[in-house]
Amino acid sequence: MKRKLKAVCAGLLALAIGLTASGCGMRKSDGKKTVGIAMPAKFLERWNRDGEYLKRRFEDEGYNVELRFSDNNINQQVNDIQVLIADDVDLLIISAIDGGAMFRTLEDAAIKDIPVICYDRMIPNSEAVKCYVSFDNYTVGQLQAGFIIDSLGIDKEDNDDGVFNIELVMGDTADTNASVFYRGSIDTLQPYLDSGKIKIPSGKVTFEQTATPGWETDKALKNMQNILASHYSGGTTLDAVLCTSDCLSIGVIQAIQTDYNGHNDPVITGQDGDIAALRALVDNTLDMTVYKNVQHEADATVIVARTILEGRTPDDSITSEFPAKCVFDNETYNNGKEPIASFLLTPEVIEADGLEKLVGTGLYMWDDDHRYLRSTS
Ligand code: BGC
Repeated sequence: MKRKLKAVCAGLLALAIGLTASGCGMRKSDGKKTVGIAMPAKFLERWNRDGEYLKRRFEDEGYNVELRFSDNNINQQVNDIQVLIADDVDLLIISAIDGGAMFRTLEDAAIKDIPVICYDRMIPNSEAVKCYVSFDNYTVGQLQAGFIIDSLGIDKEDNDDGVFNIELVMGDTADTNASVFYRGSIDTLQPYLDSGKIKIPSGKVTFEQTATPGWETDKALKNMQNILASHYSGGTTLDAVLCTSDCLSIGVIQAIQTDYNGHNDPVITGQDGDIAALRALVDNTLDMTVYKNVQHEADATVIVARTILEGRTPDDSITSEFPAKCVFDNETYNNGKEPIASFLLTPEVIEADGLEKLVGTGLYMWDDDHRYLRSTS
């Protein structure tokens, strides 16, 4: 009887070992290092593209990859990262839904000595964070505000069109990038707000007043509908809406189409090059998007990760291997203890006549009648 019990136990143990080795909690035994990637959500086009491309690139370089998308849900992302840490990944790449919510989880990463690269979005106050790879997010905001100023001719000396009315639609306060985008925009607009050349009729001016929880398109739509009903229904002209991201622009465009009764087409900005936004560029309902080449960001991340995994410290010298221009900054961002090496790529403005350039990235292709772009993946 005892012998039978022993045999059953041994069998169960072997089964358990088999299961864990096959990916349920133990590092694989193929000698390859494993990179854990945590992206905000698969349903958000930008992060789906980033996640899949990062995975492919790391696999091409000979790493195992565990990629997790967290449905834009903070608790789920915390959970997903805990699983990656329990799985003993060798390095974590995180684009945080809420940078402030990561602190405790990343303490476990620090204890296990798992280095963290913040991808696109910075995570404050965690010693596990070793590097930050992103775009120059302040410049994104500057480009959007500068585009509006140029398009409306606001700073032309002979412009006596009077006062220009604009509205600001910003991102999620939990995303560390959102306030940087806001600063880039508001700093650029401030002289015109001070001189009275630009007005914001809704009175929503601060970052908190203009933020959109969860970066949700639907919330941007409803918010814009409310603004239009309260401040523009009496015939006030809306000259421009500074939307910080394509996912917000799409909602704002819908609101303008249904609820704005002015005779002009307000200038609208965006960011990312989402397919719906690129269609809107062609249809003339969106005027620009700030494009951030995902391949460049992912390729830079792979180089930074490889440097760390080889036991070296990423610094300015590795930027010569990057596929695009990049500013190395080791002063601006810190992990609560010390400044961290940050690699900031350069964003660029894309308008309707620049779509061919996107095709050149290999991430987009023309549809059959060469009118709109679609994704190649
Ligand atoms: C990214 C943007 C994106 C936004 C919404 C930001 O953190 O930098 O590219 O549009 O999140 O997903």
